[in-house]
Amino acid sequence: PGTGGKMAAAQSSPVCILVLGMAGSGKTALVQRLTAYLHSKNSPPYVINLDPAVHELPFPANIDIRDTVKYKEVMKQYGLGPNGGIVTSLNLFATRFDQVMKFIEKRQSASQYVLIDTPGQIEVFTWSASGTIITEALASSFPSLVVYVMDTSRSTNPVTFMSNMLYACSILYKTKLPFIVAMNKTDIIDHSFAVEWMQDFEVFQDALSQETSYASNLTRSMSLVLDEFYSSLKVVGVSAVQGTGLEEFFEQVSKAVDEYEREY
Ligand code: GTP
Repeated sequence: PGTGGKMAAAQSSPVCILVLGMAGSGKTALVQRLTAYLHSKNSPPYVINLDPAVHELPFPANIDIRDTVKYKEVMKQYGLGPNGGIVTSLNLFATRFDQVMKFIEKRQSASQYVLIDTPGQIEVFTWSASGTIITEALASSFPSLVVYVMDTSRSTNPVTFMSNMLYACSILYKTKLPFIVAMNKTDIIDHSFAVEWMQDFEVFQDALSQETSYASNLTRSMSLVLDEFYSSLKVVGVSAVQGTGLEEFFEQVSKAVDEYEREY
């Protein structure tokens, strides 16, 4: 399909955007903002909530895991704590994901984008069989990509930044899907420091020179290793709260879709 405009990713096949990120990075806020933005562009998305433990959703979901799986009941029934309850709820939901796929297929012509919000704790999705099943089901039928949401304001320390990037890298290798890093909360701090760290090894080394721990030595070596990861990485600064950076976000999505279509 032609990708002439920002929103012209794929006319017949919706693009699935899996939103992942550490707890509190702003996944839900970003999905809410993207949903509102797409509505304003007359391109309402199909929205799926995969977080069984979310209290209140700030956006209307077309499919909500909480309608089919009650995570507090699952905890009681299987004698689990909160984390076990969330993992088991997602497992139960994954066994019926073929039905979700049918819903998405039916909506093919109506929605250009499918937005998928994932559980608060990232590893529930990225290191579980159910997360893999869901990712593979989506990616085998539709152009799909991962948006890794990062809390920019909590990544200003170079060692913390590096840990976050290593995590992002591990998810890239795990999902093997086109990958965008959304540096969120740019209303608190601009993400340019992080972009500079990724583009200029020496600037990152300078920032590290303040650190003298073992971690900083390791980080020095790691930043060389990550150079390759950075060079092909799509990065965009956004503020889910203020709604900035969304045009550029969808430009990056278009590029990621082109990549998907070349490789899958
Ligand atoms: P869980 O799934 O609950 O772990 O979190 P999440 O990743 O979905 O994050 P959520 O959207 O709940 O946001 C976490 C906190 O960050 C909330 O207090 C949000 O208001 C705040 N937040 C999210 N996006 C932004 C942003 O762009 N700027 C600022 N300043 N705060 C934000």
